[in-house]
Amino acid sequence: MLTFKTKLLSSLLLGIAFTTSAQNNTPIYLDVNKPIEERVENALSLMTTEEKVGLCHAQSKFSSMGVPRLGIPEVWTDDGPHGIREEVFWDEWSGAGWTNDYCTAFPALTCLAATFNPDLSLLYGKSIGEEARYRNKTVLLGPGVNIYRTPLNGRNFEYMGEDPYLASRLVVPYIEGVQSIGVAACVKHFALNNQEEWRGHINVSLSDRALYEIYLPAFKAAVQEGKAWSIMGSYNQLRGEHCCHNDLLLNKILKQDWNFDGVVISDWGGAHDTDQAVKNGLDLEMGTFTNGLTTNGKFPYSSYYLADPFLKGVKEGKYDIALLNDKARRILRMIFRTTMSANRPFGRFVSPEHSEAGRRIAREGIVLLKNEKQLLPIPVGKYNKIAVIGENATRSLVIGGGSSSLKVAYEVSPLAALTEKYGKDHIAYSLGYASGPSMYGREEPSKLNTDSLIAAAINVAKGADVVLFVGGLNKNHFQDCEGGDRKSLDLPFGQNKLIDALLKVNKNIAVVLLSGNAVAMPWVDKVPAIMQGWYLGSEAGHALTDVIAGDVNPSGKLPFSFPKKLEDNAAHSFGKLSYPGDSVNVWYKDDILVGYRWFDTKKIEPLFPFGFGLSYTSFAYSKPSADKTELATDGIVKITFTLTNSGKIDGAETAQLYVSKQKSVVTRAVKELKAFRKIFLKAGEIQVVTLEVPVRSFAFYNEAKHGWEVESGSYTLLLGSSSRDIKGKVEIHVK
Ligand code: GLC
Repeated sequence: MLTFKTKLLSSLLLGIAFTTSAQNNTPIYLDVNKPIEERVENALSLMTTEEKVGLCHAQSKFSSMGVPRLGIPEVWTDDGPHGIREEVFWDEWSGAGWTNDYCTAFPALTCLAATFNPDLSLLYGKSIGEEARYRNKTVLLGPGVNIYRTPLNGRNFEYMGEDPYLASRLVVPYIEGVQSIGVAACVKHFALNNQEEWRGHINVSLSDRALYEIYLPAFKAAVQEGKAWSIMGSYNQLRGEHCCHNDLLLNKILKQDWNFDGVVISDWGGAHDTDQAVKNGLDLEMGTFTNGLTTNGKFPYSSYYLADPFLKGVKEGKYDIALLNDKARRILRMIFRTTMSANRPFGRFVSPEHSEAGRRIAREGIVLLKNEKQLLPIPVGKYNKIAVIGENATRSLVIGGGSSSLKVAYEVSPLAALTEKYGKDHIAYSLGYASGPSMYGREEPSKLNTDSLIAAAINVAKGADVVLFVGGLNKNHFQDCEGGDRKSLDLPFGQNKLIDALLKVNKNIAVVLLSGNAVAMPWVDKVPAIMQGWYLGSEAGHALTDVIAGDVNPSGKLPFSFPKKLEDNAAHSFGKLSYPGDSVNVWYKDDILVGYRWFDTKKIEPLFPFGFGLSYTSFAYSKPSADKTELATDGIVKITFTLTNSGKIDGAETAQLYVSKQKSVVTRAVKELKAFRKIFLKAGEIQVVTLEVPVRSFAFYNEAKHGWEVESGSYTLLLGSSSRDIKGKVEIHVK
């Protein structure tokens, strides 16, 4: 086995040979004006086998080697989907205590999904891309687009909801934004990482229809439309093979069918076998012995599956050099697209523009779920005393949650912003409930006495004109946090008991939930106002206050359904084997009926439906009409209607179009989202809106033919302001 020193010496000798024989002009791979593919081939032709293998595995916790001898830079990756993670020690997960890496925290991706606004997704990608660029990262380890299958999944907050079409439309501009700044996006976790319970090995079984119609579309859009330069294999298994080296997922679907020309990066510790890693599509192995020091070698990373064992296999002829060259080409291509690109832009870090972007996304993602007695908005001066109750009004929500945790330059809490807005004489705060410190891998309940917390909160609420309860979940273990799932749908930390106690002394309560997941609401009929805020990032308090005070009219829509009780959810309707599985396997018995597809097909009333969100104004829809009602399979149908802002406040409404097929050769959901548009209207304004839907998007995946098929026959197109609030229908016929 070659030690690192001999490898270095041999490449230096080679290097000397190379420089003397080179012409005096720039070698092709260094010529920024040459096409990338020529530069890739030239670099590859100059590299030793050792150097090619060196590209394929980590050299530290978040970096991999380039080719020092040829001046090809290292690859630096960093989390995460919501902001640029702090620097950690070379071989460790723990922060290195640098002082130049306090970042901007952007809202969590469930909030971005709730905006239903692809323009904001582009803004998001550009903004976080600039922060990654400024921190000199080659790869941003995000966005995540795993489908919201169960409300218990600890990482739903990092993803874009339950509908593959919504996630597809929002992931593309995010990737385009990040990569426009010369940073590779790394869409994750490919694929079927829909729970954290036993995430490292759980083997997912599901039908091809569920795979292709529900769980792959957002990744396919990320690759084929977003042109993602890298993708992260997930920890779990699919049909018996780990997704970081899975022949079906990586070789057949990703690289062959989808023509992916980027890099497959393993999740940290997601690689388990050299043979499979070499042959089943893994290109860059990260985090295997996660502390990097498990082996006592001089250069412990050389014991990675794609390190010495791979090199040895190539030299012995066990592995075809073509497999190595393909991996090296992909990594070189990513390097030439980023750190060695001719026109790589410059980034910026913690800029006012990023704060403004974060605030805009947060404002547009907040969802108004209930607003009786016009309790909201609360204009400044309307009330003398506003009680603010709840730990989430003051607790930091950018830390914790696992790898997406951030060390931020600042974070405006709801209480700080409310006090700033209404004046400290009009705001009275009480903690109300306490959750304990945010720990990774275990929970540590608070030691505070809940009864005394409730008593104090009641005192404050009693004397107030209105109560703002700011609660929800947080990033503690077993809450919205990587590495574990929630244990129940209920609000934790005694919040329901607290809300009931507050209602006894004050009926004017607006409940603001900050979370990345649905929760049960036993008090839903007793409180006049409910607002779903997300993890809103550095500008959280400002965005929430903008909406509460009425400076901004809420326009968010739910990217996932809120069930009344857990058993109503599809994944939880087929026993333990369907979720969380038996610790070895999990069967997606809900199949294609995920989220509203389940609730609407099974006629189960959700607490709040997918696509639902109120406004401070009101909107009126005319009946929709289709430009044609007879279409060929490659046709496009245009649905036109007028939308009126029939209220007194400017606002935005997201019109949604669902497709339904009554008689079908296969089981189908009674409706599926196939188009949406967010329309901004001034008070009284009327707009004619046209939504275009390609007939091809009605296709189902034919398992017998292993391909997509558009059925002929009649379809109903449903125009709605949510999946349940259908404003009009149009029948069309496909020949
Ligand atoms: C974590 C996560 C992944 C993250 C990576 C690096 O385990 O699953 O999302 O990017 O490891 O922190």
